Amino acid sequence: PEHVIAVVVGSLRRESFNRRLADALPALFPEGFELRQVRIDDLPLYNQDDDANPPESALRLKREIREASGVIFATPEYNRSISGVLKNALDHASRPYGDSAWAGKPAGIVGVSVGQSGTACAQQHLRPILGYLDMPTLGQPEVYIQVKDDTFDADGSLGESTRTFMQGWVNRYVDWVQRHAG
Ligand code: FNR
Repeated sequence: PEHVIAVVVGSLRRESFNRRLADALPALFPEGFELRQVRIDDLPLYNQDDDANPPESALRLKREIREASGVIFATPEYNRSISGVLKNALDHASRPYGDSAWAGKPAGIVGVSVGQSGTACAQQHLRPILGYLDMPTLGQPEVYIQVKDDTFDADGSLGESTRTFMQGWVNRYVDWVQRHAG
């Protein structure tokens, strides 16, 4: 593939809506793009004492991010912010100081929530983190999805209106990656 896109899902829940959303994304991308969900469930809690000798799972995550042309975050909203597991992954791959894997990677944020905010609050917390990590982050369209009866089909795939909306977002994100590539 011309572009590998790393996808970070910020929920470890088996039936995660955000993972379902992430699972539906590859079908919306054009040829030349390959999406790879990266594992974050085996990362230990980040501990700066380990910077000189990072865990293998953190080294793997950094390798996968470095191989990617861009990163998509599918974030749940936990108590009006991002989940701890997502922040843990962001911290792991940002260290040791001066050796962040995130820098320069064009980012996209999507999120689905059962609450009315549709992860808007979580995403407003995620944006400045990505800004600090030097990740140019697509601004529009914003993807604030509240789970409704028709958001997902019975088989877990995207319902028609969600799919149409997400296709528009993917088209913009593809442009964003190509603009920042190389
Ligand atoms: C939630 N949930 C939630 N939803 C929301 O819209 N705003 C919020 O602030 C919170 N806070 C929150 C805290 C914690 C600790 C949990 C476990 C859940 C509900 C959340 O949207 C719901 O569990 C989603 O299903 C989480 O995303 P996944 O796991 O389906 O991807």
